Amino acid sequence: MKVKSMNTRAMITTLLFLISLAFAEDPYRFFEWHVTYGNISPLGVAQQGILINGKFPGPDIISITNDNLIINVFNHLDEPFLLSWNGIRNWKNSFQDGVYGTMCPIPPGKNYTYALQVKDQIGSFYYFPSLGFHKAAGGFGGIRISSRALIPVPFPTPADDYTLLVGDWYKTNHKDLKAQLDNGGKLPLPDGILINGRSSGATLNIEPGKTYRLRISNVGLQNSLNFRIQNHTMKLVEVEGRYTIQNLFSSLDVHVGQSYSVLITADQPAKDYYVVVSSRFTSKILTTTGVLHYSNSVAPVSGPIPDGPIKLSWSFNQARAIRTNLTASGPRPNPQGSYRYGVINITRTIRLANNLGHIEGKQRYAVNSASFYPADTPLKLVDYFKIDGVYKPGSISDQPTNGAIFPTTSVMQADFRAFVEVIFENSEDIVQSWHLDGYSFYVVGMELGKWSPASRKVYNLNDAILRCTIQVYPRSWTAIYIALDNVGMWNMRSEIWERQYLGQQFYMRVYTTSTSLRDEYLIPKNALLCGRASSSHR
Ligand SMILES: *[C@@H]1O[C@H](CO)[C@@H](O)[C@H](O)[C@H]1NC(C)=O
Ligand SMILES: *[C@@H]1O[C@H](CO)[C@@H](O)[C@H](O)[C@H]1NC(C)=O
Ligand SMILES: *[C@@H]1O[C@H](CO)[C@@H](O)[C@H](O)[C@H]1NC(C)=O
Ligand SMILES: *[C@@H]1O[C@H](CO)[C@@H](O)[C@H](O)[C@H]1NC(C)=O
Repeated sequence: MKVKSMNTRAMITTLLFLISLAFAEDPYRFFEWHVTYGNISPLGVAQQGILINGKFPGPDIISITNDNLIINVFNHLDEPFLLSWNGIRNWKNSFQDGVYGTMCPIPPGKNYTYALQVKDQIGSFYYFPSLGFHKAAGGFGGIRISSRALIPVPFPTPADDYTLLVGDWYKTNHKDLKAQLDNGGKLPLPDGILINGRSSGATLNIEPGKTYRLRISNVGLQNSLNFRIQNHTMKLVEVEGRYTIQNLFSSLDVHVGQSYSVLITADQPAKDYYVVVSSRFTSKILTTTGVLHYSNSVAPVSGPIPDGPIKLSWSFNQARAIRTNLTASGPRPNPQGSYRYGVINITRTIRLANNLGHIEGKQRYAVNSASFYPADTPLKLVDYFKIDGVYKPGSISDQPTNGAIFPTTSVMQADFRAFVEVIFENSEDIVQSWHLDGYSFYVVGMELGKWSPASRKVYNLNDAILRCTIQVYPRSWTAIYIALDNVGMWNMRSEIWERQYLGQQFYMRVYTTSTSLRDEYLIPKNALLCGRASSSHR
């Protein structure tokens, strides 16, 4: 009887929810952002930063599931500029994705109004400038998407909610970093680590007894980071839009491009405690600290700065413990576990190996030997205007090749509604971090060594986490499942910015012959045109 009455209650919630949908139009939120250069000195040395409305980091976007975000971006820099949205799916709308393969850059002195919808999404993400090495100068900020009113969230409302953008940092100007790579070089180790744009003094204010949500994103360029707070455990609750099994951790690995939400409770004696971020898997460990400050604190930070983990096995164990809470509601009232990804037949297996080498004497990176070079025209516009000769679908193989790396504008064609398995294979000694725009995927397996079909035996086909950025450990593999339900031109890239910039990326062209608006929206009316897509060329 008890079970039955629960079901009735769930049904009523769903009904009320559907009724609320029928009468409410998805709300609009308007933003006007001015992007400028400005002096910043996060490591004590003045350098040129990229500010949004005068701020470094930029303002947070606070939104609710299905909101329309209308963001008018004015580029006051002396070079072209684009913002992209890490983790925002841009449903049916890769035209707004903000990477060069999908949009023309905003020219200096001009503006562009993005119209994004955070359709069927919740969670913690961030935005960042996608061209060149702009990301090394700032221009990033947090994105929060909260649940709609009638949808239960699997933890009590926290007393407050903090964005923590952590990342490694160089004192060198972004144009000089880019020039070093353009000249064939590699980047040195970063100079330090920042928490919300600061190398010291970042402070989290808390009141005794209360619980807070921290949304932690690694917006850096190279390094995996470990996040921890002295004498406080963190309860993991959300990963890139998915509510998790609520495990307690004393520290958390955050790889480049990843986002996590944790809850912390002010349950320790009233004083100040270290917030620590340190680099992971580096020969020299970079560390920076901030402060967790109790409102009734009687003493400044003290004691040793807590150490981070050392072993790779620790990271593997943590990664395997990050799983979906199947009974919690996601963006909709139905449970996150109601889509049974484990019983769907795979229609294609793609194995992606990262490689490196030289092209014309210069350092380059590649995927299955294909080293990506951008075309003279955004690929999505090439498709839209049916311009020939810019790229070839199939210019990157589905499997690792043993050949030398070669230059190409790599595009992998995939069928709309296919259900694909992707295995990332890393034979190098560093951690990789991969991101796919337009999608979240199930992380079904992750092991040391070489993948083989027999490796499928260890896949988690029940409660794998669904996310958009995933690490691949040194000499290891990671397997994901993707339901290709979002038509468009989507960037698959290394989040390690040097590698992305030097070719470790490609585009996944999720394609259908249908031209129905049900499957993909039309090009936005205000779309910027450039290259062979500019009016003078058509
Ligand atoms: C630039 O901003 C103006 C308003 O100031 C707006 O009307 C126009 O559509 C914007 N341009 C683009 C390309 O979005
Ligand atoms: C952290 O907790 C330990 C064990 O309870 C205690 O000895 C230590 O003093 C605490 N550290 C700080 C900075 O309060
Ligand atoms: C999963 O979510 C439910 C809410 O639907 C919550 O009651 C439960 O504690 C969560 N389970 C875990 C293990 O976090
Ligand atoms: C998957 O494939 C098997 C055999 O190839 C078939 O029997 C089964 O019905 C398929 N399952 C689904 C969900 O399509």
